[in-house]
Amino acid sequence: MKVLILMGSPRHGGNTAELCKPFREELERLGAETRYMTLSDKNIHPCLGCYACQDVEGTYSCVQHDGMYEVVDSVLWADCVVLATPVYTWYCTAPMKAVLDRHYGLNKFYGSARGSLWKGKYVAILTTHGYDREYGAGPFETGVRRLCEHSSLNYLGMYSVRDEDDLASFQTAEAREGAKLFARRLLEAMEARTQLRGLLDSEGRLTGFPAKRKKKLYALLYLAEKIEPGHDYSERELGEILKAWHTFDDPATLRRDLFDHFFLDRDPQGRIYRLAYPQPDPQKLGI
Ligand SMILES: Cc1cc2nc3c(=O)[nH]c(=O)nc-3n(C[C@H](O)[C@H](O)[C@H](O)COP(=O)(O)O)c2cc1C
Repeated sequence: MKVLILMGSPRHGGNTAELCKPFREELERLGAETRYMTLSDKNIHPCLGCYACQDVEGTYSCVQHDGMYEVVDSVLWADCVVLATPVYTWYCTAPMKAVLDRHYGLNKFYGSARGSLWKGKYVAILTTHGYDREYGAGPFETGVRRLCEHSSLNYLGMYSVRDEDDLASFQTAEAREGAKLFARRLLEAMEARTQLRGLLDSEGRLTGFPAKRKKKLYALLYLAEKIEPGHDYSERELGEILKAWHTFDDPATLRRDLFDHFFLDRDPQGRIYRLAYPQPDPQKLGI
């Protein structure tokens, strides 16, 4: 797997860059190829809104010949693009926003040219923020989810850590281990989608629960990735999440199997569920 990390902070050694370190180390330890780009080094201008890119068929194109071309080369190289950015004013930083706006040259929706040059790629977010996760990073995640829907990209999720003590917040065992776990989950998620091809509908919902053990485990892995780490869920809340990701209306079986295969923890009364930490090692499960 090839993973491109686009680092959007102007602070080269700041919080976001610090969090990217264990994340990237873990990806490479697990055999992924990575590239890391600091966007503020690349002189990427904002989109001019001229739409000239929309009339150029089959290739990225922009009238501004700046660092964006280098970014695009790496985007086209990658299987997965990780948007690593601090939250600035409830969204990403300016260089990251310039990159996101100038993705238009990859999507030909509005002129004589047609097609998407990056359709099907995976996208994930790694972010740091001052407010709590939902309040601080929620708007950016919503925007990226919409971008992925609109551009037929596969959104894989977000890892975020709150800035409570500047760099120290990102050097704790919890933050570092969380970044590593996120790296593992991204690779597993991509592998699961490959294995489940044919079993997912156009909206990414499971259309059947595989009987064969290996495929079944990939299906569970795929579903576990939809569950937010660190949150408590009632049976009903968990059922709602699972229902959104399968078509055969059997959340109880899926919930039970997730628990039986150690993807979920449950309180002794069986009322509260939480994503298990750490998640089970796929190799130990036999995949
Ligand atoms: C100009 C600016 C705007 C910010 N806006 C927000 C914000 O809207 N929400 C938030 O949660 N944190 C905000 N923050 C806090 C940063 O997201 C946080 O400190 C982050 O960890 C900085 O990462 P860095 O060291 O990689 O640049 C802002 C920080 C700056 C400098």
